[in-house]
Amino acid sequence: TRPLAIAPSILASDFSRLGEEVRDIIAKGADWVHLDVMDGHFVPNITFGPDVVKSIRKYTDATFDCHLMIAPCDPYLEGFAKAGADIITVHAEAGPHLHRSLQAIRAMGKKAGVSLNPSTPESVIEYCLDQLDLVLVMSVNPGFGGQKFIPSALDKIARVKAMIGDRPIDIEVDGGVTADNAGQIARAGANALVAGSAVFKGGTPEAYEANIAAIREA
Ligand code: DX5
Ligand code: ZN
Repeated sequence: TRPLAIAPSILASDFSRLGEEVRDIIAKGADWVHLDVMDGHFVPNITFGPDVVKSIRKYTDATFDCHLMIAPCDPYLEGFAKAGADIITVHAEAGPHLHRSLQAIRAMGKKAGVSLNPSTPESVIEYCLDQLDLVLVMSVNPGFGGQKFIPSALDKIARVKAMIGDRPIDIEVDGGVTADNAGQIARAGANALVAGSAVFKGGTPEAYEANIAAIREA
């Protein structure tokens, strides 16, 4: 099994203090920084682009896990790679050429991820398994933080795990993850847990430390 990674989504952070928020969550026990990029087209919300990723890159050396909820994605992959992303995850639904997008990400020396919306079957990754470093199973419909976990994601995680076999691929879950369901999610086979509201609730570094520890212990 792959090492557990807790990846706070900065969508739930104070955007006016983004650099410090990122530094604080890493100092308080988080493993990765999950960066939700939204375009107001693929998803009904807009967040930030590569310039923001670049500007917070100087606050930490931790893994930058960029979740691109944008379509098309191919024209922007290089921008996120240059901005300091370590993992670049695209949505299977964002275009007709998933295999090409994954190849492009790896060709820039970055880890390639694919994300599946709740309605998307895991079979879409079957012919890309050798191009993949991470599979992100969405447990909410993407676009907003603070939504409720969709339980059918647990089955999908187990199926993805069976499909990847012993390949070195991370399985990440995103949406409605809390200390209450993190245990179930990890038992289903996920090793990377994204959490926005559940990490940033309380709004202080002390709260982040307790929130991250609660998810890890679960
Ligand atoms: C949803 C984003 C998630 C979101 C998670 O579109 O991809 O990363 O911020 O937030 P919570 O943990 O609050 O559901
Ligand atoms: Zn996300």
